[in-house]
Amino acid sequence: MSIRITGTGLFHPTEVISNQELVASLNAYVERYNQAHAEQIAAGELAELHGSSAEFIEKASGIKSRYVVEKSGILDIDRMYPRLAERSNDELSLQAEWGVIAAKQAMQQAGVTADEIDVVILACSNMQRAYPAVSIEIQSALGIKGYAYDMNVACSSATFGLKQAHDAIQAGARRVLMVNVEITSAHLNFKSRDCHFIFGDVATATIIEESSDKAGFELVDLSLQTQFSNNIRNNFGFLNRCEDAFGDALLFNQDGRKVFKEVCPLVAQMINQQLEKNQLLADQVKRFWLHQANANMNELILKYVAGKQAEAERAPIILDEFANTSSAGVIIAMHKTAHEVCVGEYAILSSFGAGYSVGTVLLKKVG
Ligand SMILES: CC(C)(COP(=O)(O)OP(=O)(O)OC[C@H]1O[C@@H](n2cnc3c(N)ncnc32)[C@H](O)[C@@H]1OP(=O)(O)O)[C@@H](O)C(=O)NCCC(=O)NCCS
Repeated sequence: MSIRITGTGLFHPTEVISNQELVASLNAYVERYNQAHAEQIAAGELAELHGSSAEFIEKASGIKSRYVVEKSGILDIDRMYPRLAERSNDELSLQAEWGVIAAKQAMQQAGVTADEIDVVILACSNMQRAYPAVSIEIQSALGIKGYAYDMNVACSSATFGLKQAHDAIQAGARRVLMVNVEITSAHLNFKSRDCHFIFGDVATATIIEESSDKAGFELVDLSLQTQFSNNIRNNFGFLNRCEDAFGDALLFNQDGRKVFKEVCPLVAQMINQQLEKNQLLADQVKRFWLHQANANMNELILKYVAGKQAEAERAPIILDEFANTSSAGVIIAMHKTAHEVCVGEYAILSSFGAGYSVGTVLLKKVG
């Protein structure tokens, strides 16, 4: 049985924020805050806030810009989060709208119609509501029968979603549509210099099906691992109200340095184990589509796996343009550079993120 990715799709909003624009906004906020609280800061009652710099952001992460759902609300220092109009229950929700656009592209590339799909999975870090599942709304908007569900394994949602798709097909489903819609700017604290630059908004979609002759990427081996860590957390949830907990402390936060140190070796080890299990050498892998959180991290993982001499192009970077798009990053990297892999060659798709959660998927180009 050959289970393959036969189509991918990518949607991003048109509004872009450069590092310079983001830094100008944060620094204006910081200056106003420090002035307004000068006496308490001088008395040691409040901590002074520190500004950000575009040079730091690019050097520390490789990020230069990000697409966002709504720019003016984020840059407005009286607000600092996107401004969105509430939609009625009769309208398609925002997350479903983006998912449908990406899904149509993936379906077109795969040459697949709605009636040929049996399962829809929305796999991402944040669902816009608890229920009904957004994936069911996407399923309905596309006219797909069968079943749909939402799943969240943070930045590893796409690789974990591919495993669910693979298993569903082994169990009898004809085709699976996986959608990753990340509206990350809505859960980001734009007042914190530690993380204000990290994320961007995007939607990706992937068609997975069983075929012996269709062009695409065969899922040769899928390996998943989780290991609990508090180093990346988002405490936003339905119990906040009962705990009388509100405010920015509930949003995404991380100890980026610890994540960097702990996750890079873990990912490299899993990729090396996967290569060994499949009797492959790193040199036989044309592209490593790694999670797009930090360019320096990806450079280090590539060195751990393929040696110091490995050419940078073997681990393509898209986060300079998109920033960290959580689960969608690996799919964007694959979508943009799949043509660089020839029939018969291997690629590895590997995600890592909160949990910790790591997924590695060995792919072989088939035609
Ligand atoms: C977040 C990340 C880019 C930060 O880079 P870093 O090199 O670790 O930077 P640090 O947070 O250690 O900060 C280094 C210094 O720069 C300062 N700094 C932090 N943010 C800054 C900013 N926006 N502008 C200027 N200086 C800043 C810090 O205060 C610190 O100063 P100090 O040395 O005087 O204490 C990096 O740690 C990272 O990407 N980690 C991996 C995160 C990840 O993969 N997460 C999964 C996400 S889902």
